[in-house]
Amino acid sequence: MSIKQSVTVIGLGPMGQAMVHALLRQGHHVTVWNRTASRADALVARGAVLAKSVEDAVAANELVVLSLTDYDAMYTVLEPASHVLTGRVLVNLSSDTPEKTRSGARWVSERGAVHLTGGVTVPPSGIGQPESSTFYSGPREVFEAHRSTLEVLTGTDYRGEDPGLAALLYQIGMGMFWTSMLSYWQAIALADANGLTAADVLPHATETMTGMPGFLSFYAERIDAGEHSGDVDRLAMGMASVEHVLHTNADAGVDTALPAAVAALFRRGMDAGHAADSFSSLVELMKAAKP
Ligand SMILES: NC(=O)c1ccc[n+]([C@@H]2O[C@H](COP(=O)([O-])OP(=O)(O)OC[C@H]3O[C@@H](n4cnc5c(N)ncnc54)[C@H](OP(=O)(O)O)[C@@H]3O)[C@@H](O)[C@H]2O)c1
Repeated sequence: MSIKQSVTVIGLGPMGQAMVHALLRQGHHVTVWNRTASRADALVARGAVLAKSVEDAVAANELVVLSLTDYDAMYTVLEPASHVLTGRVLVNLSSDTPEKTRSGARWVSERGAVHLTGGVTVPPSGIGQPESSTFYSGPREVFEAHRSTLEVLTGTDYRGEDPGLAALLYQIGMGMFWTSMLSYWQAIALADANGLTAADVLPHATETMTGMPGFLSFYAERIDAGEHSGDVDRLAMGMASVEHVLHTNADAGVDTALPAAVAALFRRGMDAGHAADSFSSLVELMKAAKP
């Protein structure tokens, strides 16, 4: 029987708690610490050890998993433990921008520890499921040395040495997630204004979202080839359609911030002369917006 690696988990929000449960289920010895100590109660009842201080938590194990709101929280939490960081491997599963993860990795390295960035692509219910996935980046040999323990949390998807890479891929997905979910809240608000429930629109909403992968792959190939011809769709058609969506929402008296923002982007594409091109030409407009 192999000896399971002992792990420290710092940050016991819904994600950190799910991670500790998964590690305990697989027989790992887990030391935990959280700003609000009471969030460790249920985990201690299951066998986790609550460290008296963050210094004790960091000193307890080579492998330290961070599950905090953002990287600013990491500095706040780890500053008092700076003197015990040497030799530690910090697997930071907190969300932040690629730039902040790069400077965070430098900060950790300056204190004699190694930083691995992680971007978990599933909610707490997906932790402990091998089919779930987390992007990782940072030193490959360190990732490989700890891969089997990290795979207790989710499947792993190592993307390279740059500490910002995992954060970049994570934020790409989150940008799509938040805007897609907002479009769903908009649909429900519009449905509600017309006497329909979320359950009433669920089948249609599901069918609409389920059709998306076909659109993604169709346009990915053409966009990479620089192809935006209006043979399948024209921006002018899309402009009329998004105006219909905007007016349907306005007529129903629901919030129009989201459909108005969509219509404004389409209008900019029209003004830039893309009326006869595909609405994928909006990508070029978005690229041009970079500083
Ligand atoms: N929840 C999800 O579905 C999900 C999915 C994928 C990725 N993520 C990412 O995973 C990370 C953790 O998620 P979560 O839902 O568990 O987050 P959360 O509810 O924000 O909890 C994060 C932890 O951060 C601690 N914290 C925040 N600010 C702090 C500070 N200034 N000083 C000390 N501790 C601080 C909190 O301590 P207290 O308990 O004392 O408040 C808590 O333990 C986030 O970066 C999130 O974006 C979340």
